[in-house]
Amino acid sequence: MNKRKPLTLHRLREMHASGEKIAMLTCYDAAFAHVLDAAGVDALLVGDSLGMVLQGHATTASVSMDEMLYHTSCVARANRTAWIIADMPFGSYQESTDLAIRNAVRLMKAGAQMVKLEGGGWTAPIVGRLVERGIPVCAHLGFTPQSVHALGGYRVQGRDAGSAGALRTQALELIGAGAACLVLEMVPANLARELTEESSIPVIGIGAGAGCSGQVLVLHDMLGLHPDTPPRFVRNFLTGGATIESAVGQYVKDVKEGRFPDDTLHSF
Ligand code: KIV
Repeated sequence: MNKRKPLTLHRLREMHASGEKIAMLTCYDAAFAHVLDAAGVDALLVGDSLGMVLQGHATTASVSMDEMLYHTSCVARANRTAWIIADMPFGSYQESTDLAIRNAVRLMKAGAQMVKLEGGGWTAPIVGRLVERGIPVCAHLGFTPQSVHALGGYRVQGRDAGSAGALRTQALELIGAGAACLVLEMVPANLARELTEESSIPVIGIGAGAGCSGQVLVLHDMLGLHPDTPPRFVRNFLTGGATIESAVGQYVKDVKEGRFPDDTLHSF
């Protein structure tokens, strides 16, 4: 029986401020939402990675609003205490702020407590408008999968001084616009640590080293269900006869106690 109180934005901010690590995983359905929530995962990300993981597409670009609404509602129905973040899919916020507001409202009505959108610079005014209208926003910088073609493939971002500076500027703009959480993907560990230390909001890393406020992995990757060689930043927690429940519990424990990620094995 899960006796944890429902996670709130206030609690996530407190965790960032006090250095208590935040454990996040992607989640796309009710069965896993139940397991992850019971295992103490702090935040469930209904990621548009579902386009690759569940649907077998090569990128996340094809995921639709209707698909995101369906999976968000499945997760929300089974979840009791974890914080739910839903991805705004490609095409749902690029065109105009009005379209972004309309689609973010639909995700909130489906059970999301926060929406996530990718990119910096041009997204800051959109973030500001969403926040103004009572929609909590998680920003996503570094490698942003919806822009995989524009970025020239799966590459670490912010390696040189120029791109590291641009990333820092974008992070500050998004925080200034009211973003309440920031995902940093495939960013050098030193840069992610500095940005986290400078940030007033939680910074959740994926391939961004151990210095972030918390970690997120794609659920199926950490259960060893990657169809090819998984990215460097993934660890398979479902080994040695573990059950899904114990693998997720071990992930939460290892994130909380600073054993995952290991900067020499899983970071850049
Ligand atoms: O869609 C997703 O799973 C994500 C994570 C990679 C952070 O955005």
